[in-house]
Amino acid sequence: MATAGNKSINAKLVLLGDVGTGKSSLVLRFVKGQFIEFQESTIGAAFFSQTLAVDDANVKFEIWDTAGQERYHSLAPMYYRGAAAAIVVYDITNQASFDRAKKWVQELHSQGNSNMVTALAGNKADLLDARTVSTEEAKAYAQKNGLFFMETSAKNASNVNDIFNEIAKRLPRLQPSPNPSGMVLVDRPAGAAADRPATASCCS
Ligand code: GTP
Ligand code: MG
Repeated sequence: MATAGNKSINAKLVLLGDVGTGKSSLVLRFVKGQFIEFQESTIGAAFFSQTLAVDDANVKFEIWDTAGQERYHSLAPMYYRGAAAAIVVYDITNQASFDRAKKWVQELHSQGNSNMVTALAGNKADLLDARTVSTEEAKAYAQKNGLFFMETSAKNASNVNDIFNEIAKRLPRLQPSPNPSGMVLVDRPAGAAADRPATASCCS
């Protein structure tokens, strides 16, 4: 429950990225504080929720952890449509996963919400000896494409809460109205029809 005076925000968040980059592991770490060495590959997608208190608001994340296997690619729009935030995950030891992350970013830019808060996560940052994607390269790419960037480790928990926290801070601050769709609602101009809240502009 929201603390008195605090806003409650429901935010649909989607994780996208290549198979085995650690999407499910990041969610498991964030939601349950756990890590599983032999995490099973996700089938379709999995749903989780977790609430974070930041600054002036309680943000309830409704998290869609998608499957990285290519055969599920066509399902992805169901999960990123209407999402307020996305985390695109790659594995710092796997250059191909970084290339795949760039494809996801392109797809989000062309098909997703234009005001989506998007993070790029270079996961498995604990595997420094096996690194093939440099921090500088990823940082530069993120800057150029309007993403914020963090290297994370679901295994040792580094930057996992931080990345969700940063997203929560960047979400637009909105009215504490009930929001069953999970969409982030933009402040409506005074005088707008009260029963028809303006929604964030969305995809085609
Ligand atoms: P799909 O569901 O198939 O798309 O994969 P995923 O992105 O959900 O990856 P998952 O979380 O299943 O992790 C794949 C493997 O990487 C698992 O064996 C995890 O234990 C391991 N893994 C995930 N995150 C990390 C990490 O930060 N460090 C290390 N060393 N291993 C990790
Ligand atoms: Mg998974």
